[in-house]
Amino acid sequence: MNETVARLLNEQINKELYSAYLYLDMAIFYDAMDLDGYANYYTIQAQEERDHALLFMQYLQSNGQKVTLDAIGKPDKVYETVLDPLVAAAEHERYVSALINDIYHEAYQVRDYRTMKFLDWFVDEQREEEDNADSMISRYKLFGSDPRGLYLLDQEYAGRVYTAPSLVL
Ligand code: FEO
Repeated sequence: MNETVARLLNEQINKELYSAYLYLDMAIFYDAMDLDGYANYYTIQAQEERDHALLFMQYLQSNGQKVTLDAIGKPDKVYETVLDPLVAAAEHERYVSALINDIYHEAYQVRDYRTMKFLDWFVDEQREEEDNADSMISRYKLFGSDPRGLYLLDQEYAGRVYTAPSLVL
């Protein structure tokens, strides 16, 4: 495997684990506000990010590449309102999409079609994640300022259940 592609894939393990940390931190923020549904939503989001990290790790391993784990940064965003984490999550997903695109670009440059095929799943996943994050913002803006509306949104997010990723290596 091309050295740059392998390095970027290895770095992505860390970025995904950081994403898991970031979402756990959001879950903690909502738990402290007694918004258990939002807390549940982001706890599951953290599990999904951990899965993403494992997929990058397994892909490198199945291609004979060495995996090196780095320190995970401390989530240092400060949230004050219910809306703050929602906005931060949408921004973060756009950042992650850009990272995936960068790896894709490097793989394309060196004609690494296998890695491009692997990354296709993440390209689709990122569209879905950006869409979900944007929808959480707009639904909060529509209904969240009313206590009953916020209660119903929270109830709905309490129903989110974890599902394993559809990509299996
Ligand atoms: Fe693994 Fe939410 O990107």
